[in-house]
Amino acid sequence: DKALRVAVLGCGSVGSQVVRLLTEQSADLAARAGARLELAGVAVRRLDAKREVEVPEHLLTTDAMDLVTRDDVDLVVEVIGGIEPARGLILAALENGASVVSANKALLAEDGATLFEAADKSARDLYYEAAVAGAIPILRPLRESLTGDKVTRVLGIVNGTTNFILDKMHTSGAGFAEALEEAQELGYAEADPTADVEGFDAAAKAAILASLAFHTRVTAGDVHREGIAEVSAADVASAREMRSVVKLLAICELRDGAVSARVHPAMIPDTHPLASVREAYNAVFVESEAAGQLMFYGPGAGGAPTASAVLGDLVTAARNLLSGSRGAGESAYAALDVLPMGETVTRY
Ligand code: HSE
Repeated sequence: DKALRVAVLGCGSVGSQVVRLLTEQSADLAARAGARLELAGVAVRRLDAKREVEVPEHLLTTDAMDLVTRDDVDLVVEVIGGIEPARGLILAALENGASVVSANKALLAEDGATLFEAADKSARDLYYEAAVAGAIPILRPLRESLTGDKVTRVLGIVNGTTNFILDKMHTSGAGFAEALEEAQELGYAEADPTADVEGFDAAAKAAILASLAFHTRVTAGDVHREGIAEVSAADVASAREMRSVVKLLAICELRDGAVSARVHPAMIPDTHPLASVREAYNAVFVESEAAGQLMFYGPGAGGAPTASAVLGDLVTAARNLLSGSRGAGESAYAALDVLPMGETVTRY
């Protein structure tokens, strides 16, 4: 029976769930992929770290570059995050003939173009559904299901931590600092919450959403960004008086062939579907010419939900390898003009 060999880079909360699902669901995954997905190795920073899953000792390695360049590795899952060494490892994996599944929003939003070119050159897949809104299938619908339509706008609540904080401020009247503290205690916000609170995480996701929605190349640097640290209890109270809620939105719009992509707190009327997105959930609202309005909703973070998206990509990449085909590449995307911040058209 056929087997494809999978290298997993990183064994944190997402990586360990990927390893768990690969083991526990191996029969189902094999049936869907058309071959067994066999763990070739797991690259970690420290061999003796505490992990959520038991990984057989002989599969653990601290030499990620050696792992991705082994002859017998067919598929590489990158869940390390950050720019380097992730970029170098993905490029080496593609060059070595492996298809790659990544959850790395920062890297895709900063330098996706280099990665897609490398994937084209090697005729391999690079999938990254898990990079935006965790478990929610949103990238494949934008890239594939809606590719016959014309997407005009994408509005997203794509950061769970900030949505939790703003929701807390609405329900309890708490100020920003108090709500942040609670988010940290519950394990939503990280000890250093800058990337979430200042909107960097959402801006990377906005760049990815805009690129796929409009078939263009938008980087994180193109996205106007404003976080939620300045949102006060008084702002929240006055939003409530206007029957609205404050949400951190990623807004991607297309107008006259130019793109506007931005992340900032916005007032959403209670009647809008995005207003009902509570706690740390994510949602993405899409408007297109023919389909009209669509909403995608679900858990946007967490080990198992994010691993669900990774496994979906892995099965698809495995099928493509077995049939000698590839998914839709993105290297042909060209940059469109990016509108200055003032020229925006959002009405909720
Ligand atoms: N810190 C992110 C969030 C995790 O809060 O949504 C998922 O990218």
